[in-house]
Amino acid sequence: MWQARHHHRALFVLVWLSALGAAPLPCPCPPTDRLPQKRTDSLGVASCSTSSCHGGPKGANHDVQSFAATIWINDDPHSRAAEVLHEPRSLAMAKMLGIGAPHRSRQCLVCHATQDLKAEPLPSRVLADGVGCAACHGDPTQWESLHTLDGWRQMSPDERKALGYTDLSTPLARVRTCVRCHVGDADHEVNHDLLAAGHPRLTFEFAAYQRLEPRHWSPAGKAEATADFTQRSWAVGQAATLEAVARLLEVRAARAVEEPVARWPEFAELDCSSCHRPLGGGGLASRSVIPGALPGTPSWQPWQVAAGRLLGTQAADAALVEANVIALRTLLAADWAGAEVEGLHRVCRQADSLATAAGSLSEQLSQAPRINLQGTPAAVETLVASSPQEWQSWDSAVQTYLALEAARQGGPARLGSAGCRLPQETEAGPALNTLRRSLQLPAGSNTPRDFDPRRFHSLRSEVP
Ligand code: HEC
Ligand code: HEC
Ligand code: HEC
Ligand code: HEC
Repeated sequence: MWQARHHHRALFVLVWLSALGAAPLPCPCPPTDRLPQKRTDSLGVASCSTSSCHGGPKGANHDVQSFAATIWINDDPHSRAAEVLHEPRSLAMAKMLGIGAPHRSRQCLVCHATQDLKAEPLPSRVLADGVGCAACHGDPTQWESLHTLDGWRQMSPDERKALGYTDLSTPLARVRTCVRCHVGDADHEVNHDLLAAGHPRLTFEFAAYQRLEPRHWSPAGKAEATADFTQRSWAVGQAATLEAVARLLEVRAARAVEEPVARWPEFAELDCSSCHRPLGGGGLASRSVIPGALPGTPSWQPWQVAAGRLLGTQAADAALVEANVIALRTLLAADWAGAEVEGLHRVCRQADSLATAAGSLSEQLSQAPRINLQGTPAAVETLVASSPQEWQSWDSAVQTYLALEAARQGGPARLGSAGCRLPQETEAGPALNTLRRSLQLPAGSNTPRDFDPRRFHSLRSEVP
């Protein structure tokens, strides 16, 4: 089964920007003897995917629940997450990092497999399923036998949670599950060492990623059926992602205080293009976007900061978040390479303060009666005018596009059969599609070297 599968494969970051709808690429299959062994214990997909449970045949006449695992196995990128660790690019990455076999390294397995990684050393035969059911739904040891009984439906979310079942019913609950791997935390990290070894950059945007994951549940009666599903997912997702990003910075700064060998500054926190671009001269001025910062100062997290500013249009409390972002950026710019302990403490405190503000904003947006992104094009206009430099980067351009797309898609999700990807070409409108194409990475490259901000902004003004 592992070999028979074909996938809409992600080759590089933001593959969803590249020709959507193109024919799926056949996956290079690793030789059979190296294929990951499947788990059959309760953490394993095998225990959920028997044909009488969630592994039945896909079909319109069946309850989606009966073929959830079938969708995951055939179409979900997560089912391949352990296999990619056997591919040459992962082997090359691991070799550069000096971490041994990637499919046996905690550094990779934490995000690429559903593992119990507590054993030290890891058992000689690592059982890997990729990002399986338990990675999102919680360790089923205590609820596996209960969730098929009538009493399960009557249980409150808190009672289920006590048994280790993860609530995924709201956009907020969902995004909090995704960010562990798609942003990272103290135990899950893609730092600049991994990036330089060839790991794709993590550029997570919840609404888009949620749309890309083939749905293996029926949307009826779920968050998908609410009137502002996509817009709320975008807004809540941005706030919750910003919270996760700030917490990760806090962890890194705290580590730099405690461990003398810790990397600081962590380059993955900074604007990639501030270091990775052709040298200036010929009148190309430094693009530092932080007022008062010396030329040549890299700025913090343009991906998230652009999003944070767009969020400012959605809720009063977003102003507090933005103030915290500015304070943090200014602090980092003043002494970005400094490893002075007092400075690091200041960074920790400011990152904590931002994370707290963004966390409560995400709750607020989650509970707001209605999220409406209709004014987004006008809001982008205002933001570009107020900080034109900031809006020159590919990161901010992509975030702008994603916000416009979320505003356009609105909600509710189509209540068609599960497992369908939305046909974005027709639903998003031609102007938005042209805008998306202007952001595509050149074939075979993960650097937006052809990005032209002026062209982007002129195309953007044509989006109704
Ligand atoms: C913090 C969690 C995390 C860690 C740690 C991590 N990865 Fe990943 N990896 C991801 C995510 C998330 C993606 C998907 C990125 C995307 O498309 O947005 C990914 C994508 C990849 C891809 C590209 C897959 C594809 O289909 O194109 C490879 C290869 C890869 N990782 C290898 C590794 C290796 C090898 C290690 C260990 C050295 C590792 N990863 C560690 C989270 C992680
Ligand atoms: C990347 C995260 C993720 C993974 C991995 C995942 N799921 Fe889900 N699953 C979800 C989300 C999100 C929902 C929607 C839950 C909701 O709205 O309450 C869901 C819903 C479901 C439902 C419907 C539950 C209900 O209350 O109607 C079933 C059944 C299900 N998943 C089974 C599985 C199985 C079996 C696997 C493994 C083969 C799996 N899932 C893997 C995220 C995931
Ligand atoms: C346990 C870690 C983990 C969790 C939790 C997780 N993911 Fe992933 N995700 C990955 C990894 C690793 C990959 C890369 C898989 C590959 O390509 O081999 C990935 C890939 C993806 C992709 C494909 C990206 C691309 O470039 O095509 C999407 C979409 C996605 N995840 C959405 C989600 C969403 C939505 C959630 C939360 C509901 C989530 N993921 C939760 C680890 C995780
Ligand atoms: C403060 C400067 C700085 C920042 C910011 C930075 N890098 Fe790097 N990066 C470097 C240096 C220095 C090297 C080593 C250059 C070499 O190998 O020639 C490097 C190497 C790399 C490489 C491997 C060599 C290459 O050019 O392909 C990749 C890939 C990479 N970085 C990706 C990123 C990504 C993605 C980001 C943003 C998340 C980023 N870097 C941010 C300084 C930086």
